[in-house]
Amino acid sequence: MIEAQPSKTALRVALRRAAHQVHDARPLVFDDPLAVKILGPEFSEEIKRTPKAEKRPFSAALRAFMVCRARYAEDVLAAGVRDSNVRQYVVLGAGLDTFAYRNPFADVKVFEVDHPATQAWKRELIKAAEISVPETMQFVAVDFETMSLRQELLRAGFDFSVPAAVAWLGVVPYLTPEAFAATMRVLERLAPGSSVVFDYSQPREVLSEREQLMLDSISARVALAGEPFQLFFTPEQLREELEHYGWSVVEDLDGKGLNARYLAGRHDGLVLRGSAGRLCHARAS
Ligand SMILES: C[S@@+](CC[C@H](N)C(=O)[O-])C[C@H]1O[C@@H](n2cnc3c(N)ncnc32)[C@H](O)[C@@H]1O
Repeated sequence: MIEAQPSKTALRVALRRAAHQVHDARPLVFDDPLAVKILGPEFSEEIKRTPKAEKRPFSAALRAFMVCRARYAEDVLAAGVRDSNVRQYVVLGAGLDTFAYRNPFADVKVFEVDHPATQAWKRELIKAAEISVPETMQFVAVDFETMSLRQELLRAGFDFSVPAAVAWLGVVPYLTPEAFAATMRVLERLAPGSSVVFDYSQPREVLSEREQLMLDSISARVALAGEPFQLFFTPEQLREELEHYGWSVVEDLDGKGLNARYLAGRHDGLVLRGSAGRLCHARAS
């Protein structure tokens, strides 16, 4: 990320979640009543202008990936609350995620962790949109590259002895290997029953020619926004990496798996294409 500037990619993702609320057919994959509101009047025209999915297949595939991963993370949280005594939700690299402001679980604390510049911008948007900040949530400002996530979580009241669900969406590809490892060393300390959901990208060389073109197009856009992709894994590499930190893979879904789980039977063109991007759910053993 460009130092001291809010994340531009966080805005792009939030615009796609908002467009989903406005343009896609019901039932929505990810129903977020605050997705449009948090962006305020400044972006309402841009959201309205977003074409319907069937008119822009590539853009629809990106939107589909973003709403599926958001839905999946909240499904994993709900299952953890029900089955594994999860009482803490950590949104790592939260961007404009709104879960904390519509949290249905009165006994689940939410820790929104983000780069200080992005978080300061989000707090302004929340204030301007008059979204109330519940007592169950804490803002935790951390630069994963330079600051201690563990220390800042502890300072915010996070309890490492209580199971937590972690959502780490749209962040891993932007990190250096060192920042990824530093975060994994913190996750390593989470209580049994904890989970993490994150998306990652496969390296270019293992993709088909068509998928390489799609990845190139996304890579060029995020690099232009000053947030280049720098970290890639094959599913095998990722499994080994997680095992190294005492985590095991519960599910590692590609586009086909996500289409089957969340998008089957839709007629609005919201569909994932290719398998560059994957979504992983891992469990602390
Ligand atoms: C593509 S956005 C995704 C935001 C959000 N998770 C979502 O899905 O809407 C990437 C997020 O990662 C955060 N991020 C990137 N590098 C970071 C770093 N070094 N430290 C902390 N946060 C970082 C950005 O501030 C931004 O919120």
